[in-house]
Amino acid sequence: MGNASDPITGQVVAITGASSGIGEATARLLSARGAHVVLAARRTDRLTTLVDELPHDAVAVPADVTVPEDVTRIVDTAVERFGRLDVLVNNAGIATIGEMADGDVAGWDAMIDVNVRGVLYGIAAALPVFRRQGRGHIVTTVSTAGLKIVPTMGVYAATKNAVRTVMEALRQESTDGVVRTTSISPGFVNTELDGSIDDSDLAARIRAQMDEFGLPPDAVARAIAFAIEQPHDVEIGDLTIRPTRQN
Ligand SMILES: NC(=O)c1ccc[n+]([C@@H]2O[C@H](COP(=O)([O-])OP(=O)(O)OC[C@H]3O[C@@H](n4cnc5c(N)ncnc54)[C@H](OP(=O)(O)O)[C@@H]3O)[C@@H](O)[C@H]2O)c1
Repeated sequence: MGNASDPITGQVVAITGASSGIGEATARLLSARGAHVVLAARRTDRLTTLVDELPHDAVAVPADVTVPEDVTRIVDTAVERFGRLDVLVNNAGIATIGEMADGDVAGWDAMIDVNVRGVLYGIAAALPVFRRQGRGHIVTTVSTAGLKIVPTMGVYAATKNAVRTVMEALRQESTDGVVRTTSISPGFVNTELDGSIDDSDLAARIRAQMDEFGLPPDAVARAIAFAIEQPHDVEIGDLTIRPTRQN
């Protein structure tokens, strides 16, 4: 699969949160275009099935992004198996959303651990490899929740804006041309993200919105591919992708 004139063919791309939703769609698209993908998540059965279905050489890495050693293993596996890592897509995320008054400290901690610490561990693991190679690309899935603040999504939005800030700092620290940075901010996408919401009424409301007008995950995968396929001296910094009907 892939063809020699496609800039994505032959690239080595590690994707966290590849077992469903946006990460899975990104793996399918990039593999179909000839990338070697390294798929990371906790649901190993999903990853194994996906590896079997992909048209191009791929590998699954069982990993919890809240554990730094797991994230390092994702990067190490790419280098051991494919000789390099061109792109890390920091995509794993959860949305244990709810009103501040619920005081869901455990849910807030969980979001900070996955959405913020997980991304930082990815950056820490990938940068030494990128510096050694002389090039590399960090893509992070952020959210429109951080652009338009809405009730119930305060802490989720805060975690997303934390990584948006980190990505901008990384961009400014990487103007020697070695590391590219891209932040992708999707609006509503029809995925399994509602599964992490504990409040059943709120989960049902989000599910209904996803079903009614959520984008197919492939729409976000195409945006990620657009950022990756640019020549290395072209950096797509921020992309926002909403359903046309989202307010
Ligand atoms: N859906 C939307 O409307 C939307 C909008 C804006 C931004 N986003 C962001 O898009 C990203 C992908 O979410 P999605 O919508 O595709 O939802 P999803 O279908 O629930 O996918 C989330 C992925 O993250 C993984 N994950 C969660 N916790 C993890 C952990 N501790 N370690 C490793 N992997 C973990 C999950 O895999 P396992 O459970 O197998 O580990 C799964 O593969 C997230 O960062 C989310 O915040 C989504």
